[in-house]
Amino acid sequence: MVIGGGRMGAALVVGWLRAGMKADSVAIVEKDDSRRNELARIIPGVYLDATATASAHSVVVAVKPADAVQACDLAKRSGARRMLSIMAGIPIRSLESWTGSGLAVLRAMPNTPALVGAGVSALASGARATEQDVEWAESLLGAVGSVVRVDEACLDAVTGLSGSGPAYVFRVVEVLAEAGVRAGLPVDTSRKLARETVIGAARLLAESDEEPETLRAQVTSPGGTTEAGLAILEDHGIASAFYDAVEAASERSKKLGGGGL
Ligand SMILES: NC(=O)c1ccc[n+]([C@@H]2O[C@H](COP(=O)([O-])OP(=O)(O)OC[C@H]3O[C@@H](n4cnc5c(N)ncnc54)[C@H](OP(=O)(O)O)[C@@H]3O)[C@@H](O)[C@H]2O)c1
Repeated sequence: MVIGGGRMGAALVVGWLRAGMKADSVAIVEKDDSRRNELARIIPGVYLDATATASAHSVVVAVKPADAVQACDLAKRSGARRMLSIMAGIPIRSLESWTGSGLAVLRAMPNTPALVGAGVSALASGARATEQDVEWAESLLGAVGSVVRVDEACLDAVTGLSGSGPAYVFRVVEVLAEAGVRAGLPVDTSRKLARETVIGAARLLAESDEEPETLRAQVTSPGGTTEAGLAILEDHGIASAFYDAVEAASERSKKLGGGGL
């Protein structure tokens, strides 16, 4: 059962169905009527309800953090024995206290490329979760991308890196396009070149066995154009800009989550 059929909840279910799960084995609890109608259209065959009336063995909570207590109460009343939360910032100990004893709790931080099956999620487990529970959560998250296991204490840093990371990359595309225009390209041409460059580089990284350092070295001839461009990025502090961005986003995640674990 999935509680919360928003963007992330729906993306997960679509991924599971693509991976071979039967639609009639999934229930989505979604309180918004118009969203339920939309879900019926985009994911036909799944059981949809406004509240958790059916019982469930396993629950995924995908509501906004502000709705966490209510969703945990629904999970508890469904009789589930394990629960995976993808809510940002809500610690496992809070989830355990809201669901009561007996429920194994796991917590993950996915990112938006999950919407196209190319996400990466970090997964942490509570004390009551068994290896089987962790494997269950890994297979659910694995249907929409890659999964890494982490200690819960790492999840704020994960949020700063891979949670916020897609936005950093989109910003790089925007800035590259602006740079192309400043260098004399028409706007549309520059936007297309910037976008396709980042998509192509990401695919090359995904499909090659090489590390990013090697791929970079392969296009950087001594005294050549790429070397000249990279030297400027370093001079302008590209490394410290990203270090500070990840740190600031991690700190913000810690604060939003109530000051850490
Ligand atoms: N989007 C991301 O990149 C991302 C990444 C990592 C983690 N997350 C986490 O994933 C969670 C979901 O994000 P999202 O973007 O998918 O949010 P969303 O689109 O707002 O989806 C949440 C849905 O759950 C519904 N809902 C809320 N309380 C409910 C309840 N008690 N019973 C049934 N349905 C309920 C909401 O309905 P109403 O609109 O009527 O309230 C809404 O349709 C968040 O906690 C977020 O922190 C998101």
